[in-house]
This record gives sequence, structure tokens and C-alpha cells, in this order.
Amino acid sequence: MSATGTNAPIGSSTLLAPIIGAEINRAVAPMHGQVLSEALLQKHIAPLFSRVRQRSEIYLANHSLGRPLDLMAGDVREALDAWYTDMDGAWDIWMKEMTTFRHNIACLIGLHRADGVVPKISAGQGLRAVLNAVPKENPRVIATRGEFDSIDFILKTYHTRARASVQWVETRSSPERPPEVDPSDILAAIQAGSPDLVVISHIYYATGQRLERLEEIVAAAHAKGALVVLDAFHSAGVIPVEFEALGADFAIGGSYKYTRGGPGAAWLAIHPRHLNNNRLRTLDTGWFAKRDTFGFERPDQPLLADGGDAWLEATPAPLPLFQARSGLQLVLALGVDRLRRYSLEQLDSLGAVLSARGVKSCRGGRTPGQSGAFLLIPRRDAHAACDALKHAGVNVDARLGHLRLCPDVVTTHAEMERAAEIISRVLSNPSSEA
Ligand SMILES: Cc1ncc(COP(=O)(O)O)c(C=O)c1O
Repeated sequence: MSATGTNAPIGSSTLLAPIIGAEINRAVAPMHGQVLSEALLQKHIAPLFSRVRQRSEIYLANHSLGRPLDLMAGDVREALDAWYTDMDGAWDIWMKEMTTFRHNIACLIGLHRADGVVPKISAGQGLRAVLNAVPKENPRVIATRGEFDSIDFILKTYHTRARASVQWVETRSSPERPPEVDPSDILAAIQAGSPDLVVISHIYYATGQRLERLEEIVAAAHAKGALVVLDAFHSAGVIPVEFEALGADFAIGGSYKYTRGGPGAAWLAIHPRHLNNNRLRTLDTGWFAKRDTFGFERPDQPLLADGGDAWLEATPAPLPLFQARSGLQLVLALGVDRLRRYSLEQLDSLGAVLSARGVKSCRGGRTPGQSGAFLLIPRRDAHAACDALKHAGVNVDARLGHLRLCPDVVTTHAEMERAAEIISRVLSNPSSEA
């Protein structure tokens, strides 16, 4: 049995069409071909979020934990009901959901083979699968200081245990701008060294800086024989990700931010050029990676499944994939291009209403096109300010001396104006609100 059943023929490069359910199709259909606007989104999309919109706060932490659709609870319920009523028969719909998840993530990141997507519980688990695949003892890794904590911690742990030798590319600081990863510093590190693996983010988590010159970085790494892992957690669903065309070897990401899927539905993507490469296989394995999972044969040489299924592990966790279904479908149905255009407009509006109240905001990246989906407010006491804002009814978060603010498709302009008013009041005297 293939765990996916959706492998496009090897060598085919036709991109897949997303699988969208009837409810999402019905909601999105009237907006077909139209530029997204608040009026359209409030009419057709906001009703899909009636439960979470009952909260009284203004939610601007969508870059951290995306808001779930009402449909999500029913999707998870479907997975559970199948277990009550069908017991082991539930595996049929559980495995089908895994196939659909792999397929839809492939669509999201521009990959033509669904089996190139391997479900993981976390992005960090995806990185470990790659580290445990590099065919070298103690591989030399180049990573930046801008990587997310989970990635940073895993790499430092491997380094400390002499399972990898990590060289860090520092960020650049200037008084007026958030710390920046300079692509030329990554290129210089690659050119000066002999890396086996390069780990970079597409959009940096703390600042929203979009890393430029990705093609050059991938080409330089390949010229040195190194593999590239792209952390797309802050880009998948925000900007078009052309993973396959870019040529990076691996990408990692997850569902709990921009695709509203909650924790547990993360993924590792493998470039098709590696899917049938028997020399690049991970140690992170288990019986779902076997050539015949349910054949119960136990030859001394482990026989792996074909393609990306060789990267599966032990018994998968199906419920997070149901949890991730509706949010991912909504993003695919609305289309990342349209969502991006709307997000940039919203960030302009939010920046303007904040500025009108005397609050200075900024973005990572030098131009709006070089930034992700959130705005920053520089703040030395960012964590205290964040607590005070939550108390006053505006939910944002804080990283490395900045507040991060991310509206989503159901955030209204009126909410952003109200948020700006509260932010201006609270930031002028945070202790009075605590
Ligand atoms: C860039 C980036 N990578 C990865 C993660 C999550 O990593 P993990 O799934 O290993 O916890 C996050 C979470 O905020 C992130 O921002």
C-alpha cells in the first residue's frame, strides 16, 4: 500500500490542483476573480469565523496562532466519530486525510508531488529528519542568528553533542532598523567554507524580514555540494512559495499560523530530485516508511517505500490533519496572491492609523515587498507592553524588543483604528494598564 496514492508520475512537473471542500468553495465562489476587499471578506468569509469572533478582544496575533474556522471543530469531530463508530475502520478516513494534507501543502508551496510532503508534528522535527539524513558524520552546517528558537536550539544541541558543526551568520544591527540578516553574509560564509547543509528562513520570525537572493544562496550552496533547508513557517500562506522552482532541497513549515490549522500539523517538504535518491534517507523512520507497512515482513535490510513515503515515520497522528483541513483549504481557495495583496494593504492601513496616533511602526525588510505579514513596534519593554495591551483588549505578541502585529482577513479597519487608539494610550503609560 502506498501511504499517499497521489504520486504524480516521476518526471512530471504539472502542479497539483488544491482539494477544497464544498463549504469553503461555497463561501469563496462569489469572490471569484475579484480583488479582496473588506466588504467582500466581511460578507463571505467572516461568517466562517463566528465562534472565534465572539471573543471581545482585537486579535492581532495571527502571525503567532491563526484563528480557526468554525468548520474546524466539525472536521476534528468527523475524525473522532469515525473512531467511535468504525474502530480500526477509521484508519481509512484518517489515511485519506493524510493524503489530502500532503496534497494541499504541495499546492501551497509549489511542489508537483504530494509524496514530497512528509507530515511532522513540528518544523523542528522536519529539521532533525534532514540532519539525520545528511550522509556525513558531524556535518558542517551554516545557519543564521535569525532562525526561530526551535531551529536554533536543535542546531545548538547537535553542535554541543558533536553531531553537527554549526557556523552562525550574525545579524546586522542599526539604531533605526530591526536586526537584519544580510544575504551577502550568508553567501560569504558559504563561499568561505565547505558546508554540508545551509539553514535559512524565507521570512524571519522576529522581524518579518523576507530573505532576498534565495536563488543565489541555493546555487552557491549547491556549488559547494551542500543541501539547503528553507524554513517557510512565516512565508507559506503569506507569499507565493515556489519551493520546487527555487530548487532548495528541503523546506519546513507548519499550520498553526497563517493556515489556521493549530499545532501538530507541520511538514517537511523534499525536492523531487531527492525523492528517489536512495542515498539520501533519514534515520527518523518507522513502519509507515516500510515498502509494505502491513505486510509484516522483517528482512534484515530495511526495505523502504518509494519516493517521499520513504521519509514517513512510525504511526502517524491523524487528528491534527483534520484540525488543519479548513484553514489550509481557505488559504488555497482565496489564493496566496490575493491574500498577499490584501495583507500589504492592511499593513499600510494599520501603519497609518498607528502613525496618526503618534505610534511609530516599521517592518523587517527594506520595502513592503521584502516584509512578511506583520508590523513591528519597537519597544524596549516589549513583553510588559504586550501584557498591558492584552489587558486593555488588544492581543499582540513580542519578540526581541518589538511588538508584532498581524491583522487577518476578518480584521476590520474599524478594529485597527480602535487598536491604534488603545495602543497609543497604553504605550504612553503601560504600567497604568497592568
Ligand atoms: C520561522 C519559524 N520556524 C519554526 C517555528 C516553529 O518551530 P517548531 O514547529 O519546531 O516548534 C516557528 C514558530 O513560531 C517559526 O516562526
